Amino acid sequence: MEKNIDKLLKELSLKEKASLLSGGDIWQTEAVERLKIPSIFLVDGPHGVRYVADRHHADPAKKATCFPTAVNLAASWDLDLIKKTAAALAEESKARGVDVLLGPGINMKRSPLGGRNFEYFSEDPFLSAELAIKFIKTVQENGIGTSLKHYTANNQEYKRFSIDAQIDERPLREIYLAAFEKVIKEANPWTVMAAYNQINGDFATENTYLLQDILRDEWGYDNLVVSDWWAVHNRVKALKAGLDLEMPGADPVNDQKIVEAVQAGEISEFELDQAAARVLDLILKALETKKEERELPEAEHHQLAKEIAGETMVLLKNQGDLLPLTEAKLDTKESMLVVGELAQKVRYQGIGSSQVNPTRLDTHLEALEDKFSEKLEVHYTPGYSSEAEAEENDNLKEKALRIAENKDYVIIYAGLPDKVEAEGYDRDDIQLPKEQNQLIEELAAVNPNIIVVLNNGSAVDLREWINKVSAVIEAGLPGQAGALALADIIAGEINPSAKLTETYPLKLEDNPSYLDFPGSSSVRYGEGIYIGYRYYDKKKKEVLFPFGYGLSYTEFAYRALEAPDHLAEGEKLKLKVLIENTGQFKGEEIVQLYISQDNPSLDRPPKELKGFGKIELDPGEKEWLDLEFDYEDLAYYHPEEGWIVEADHFKIMIGASSRDIKFTEEIEVESSFTLKSLTAKTPFEDWLADGLGKKAVKEILTEAEIEEIGFFKAWPLYRLHFFAADQVSLEDIEEIIDIYQDL
Ligand code: BGC
Repeated sequence: MEKNIDKLLKELSLKEKASLLSGGDIWQTEAVERLKIPSIFLVDGPHGVRYVADRHHADPAKKATCFPTAVNLAASWDLDLIKKTAAALAEESKARGVDVLLGPGINMKRSPLGGRNFEYFSEDPFLSAELAIKFIKTVQENGIGTSLKHYTANNQEYKRFSIDAQIDERPLREIYLAAFEKVIKEANPWTVMAAYNQINGDFATENTYLLQDILRDEWGYDNLVVSDWWAVHNRVKALKAGLDLEMPGADPVNDQKIVEAVQAGEISEFELDQAAARVLDLILKALETKKEERELPEAEHHQLAKEIAGETMVLLKNQGDLLPLTEAKLDTKESMLVVGELAQKVRYQGIGSSQVNPTRLDTHLEALEDKFSEKLEVHYTPGYSSEAEAEENDNLKEKALRIAENKDYVIIYAGLPDKVEAEGYDRDDIQLPKEQNQLIEELAAVNPNIIVVLNNGSAVDLREWINKVSAVIEAGLPGQAGALALADIIAGEINPSAKLTETYPLKLEDNPSYLDFPGSSSVRYGEGIYIGYRYYDKKKKEVLFPFGYGLSYTEFAYRALEAPDHLAEGEKLKLKVLIENTGQFKGEEIVQLYISQDNPSLDRPPKELKGFGKIELDPGEKEWLDLEFDYEDLAYYHPEEGWIVEADHFKIMIGASSRDIKFTEEIEVESSFTLKSLTAKTPFEDWLADGLGKKAVKEILTEAEIEEIGFFKAWPLYRLHFFAADQVSLEDIEEIIDIYQDL
């Protein structure tokens, strides 16, 4: 294939150019044989290569390693781990002839009900961005493309093909676009995938504001925008808005519409060429990496999937240090009972386009038997069945209760059934199945040593039994080797270190989106910037488990913080935290850095994550952990001014979670920016509350005059001459405004 894109554009006919702008079939771009332009292959996904055996069809997918899903990867807060995962995904892509991996997904977890939450990283844009940057850079450094998705506001599955997400400018920028912005600027993904839904009245695939004004003009993105599958409605409008490639393809109707629109002058040759050039550029990039169909390193990647999974499970509770079940503890014990359908029918990934056909699959029961049966009797009983009627479930429960009574430990595998967590629909509530809740509660009444393992991809309500059981591990959806990692965690061979990247509220009704989820034909994001912990903190709401929370088998003491007390414009803030492992196990601690601004012109959340780090320490070991963040990370989005950093005092908070802040340090931040938003219509009291406004007022009015205006200060400035004519004339008002503008 010719490598000079300009030359290619000259040789391609109008029809051929149009044909490049939609897929050749479900997973491939269109080839132009006359010019030896090959098709390239784009497949899901985020945690495994969903390679379809017959490239023209959807299923079945060939086997590939199913790594832990995004919810788990994120809980590791570990960029090295993301790198390992992404490198392995790139390797499997090469071995399968895949050119572009359709991931990662970085939409915000606005509600725990969101059907695809397991595919997304977090409720926090900063964390999501950092993880996605590492993922994309690694995959692309290995010669495989990525698709950053779903741009944007795919925060629910209900009516996902048509719902209109109504989002005000500030939350749109500060929450729903923020991660995209950072990732686009720092990692430059080969493709961005435009979402199914509408945003403020326009489909994401046809949204000039999002695709042209923001993505291209503001952020400078010049790679390719691809539609989510079948997400293009009006092809001409989409192309004009900046959508290059429609996927999938094979139906020439839209190609013909493009041809006609160019002939009618509705689309310029330039617009057509630009999009075709981006497709050609993608193909050329893909061709640079040699792909060879070969066997996957199955055993090695299964082991890697296990290693990764071990870093992604969150210890939620461990009363009386029941866990881990170390050899020393087991010397005096005889038996363990494993309960739960999910111990055998493992849940390890979600349903939908991200679903991988795993090369292997370990079950919890086998993993526990392998690990413990030489030391203990390992018994199993299902305890519940997701398929069974209430009566049968009662019988299963009664049997489990009888067996559990005289066992040393009871490990219950609970979680959400497959069909409850899937792409395509949201959950109705955040409850576990009724039969599981009852079983856990009643087992806890007959045995004091209950360990609950949860398998689910988003927050669940655990109030029915959380205070009655001793230990709980949130295993998430940990991929094909998750069971092995979990057995190691239970045995203490791995010390859990992961932390939640999504708040677990006490109940669904506490979630800030509750009144506005999922909407009807449109959904209003009424909570604004207050999603996740930003809201729970602001409302001082008790939660079940806060954002950033997770326990370890060891203890960490936060000994000291060294941070500057001043930050000049454009400077990086560098600080260090001294952490000591004061417990008995080697372990890793995830340290979080939050900021808050003392007196912002617009309201800001009490805490915003702006940094994190992970440190591994032996018992008794003490070390400094370096953290840093950019000056720009202090900014918030002002609807009229854009991203601004105001000169102010900020608080830097170092925490073990968003609700466990160990150090708070004041810092003075410089900024040459001054917000000048006062007008004649602004209430006089706001003029007085604003530094520059007050200065301008005081140049014209005396303290006594200001005092006398008293009661009328709530009126707009321009009205004062009417109510306080003795103190303020029309000329005074004009002068105040002039002085203010010149300051
Ligand atoms: C999903 C995308 C996915 C695509 C291709 C769509 O239904 O929303 O995330 O990449 O299908 O499978």
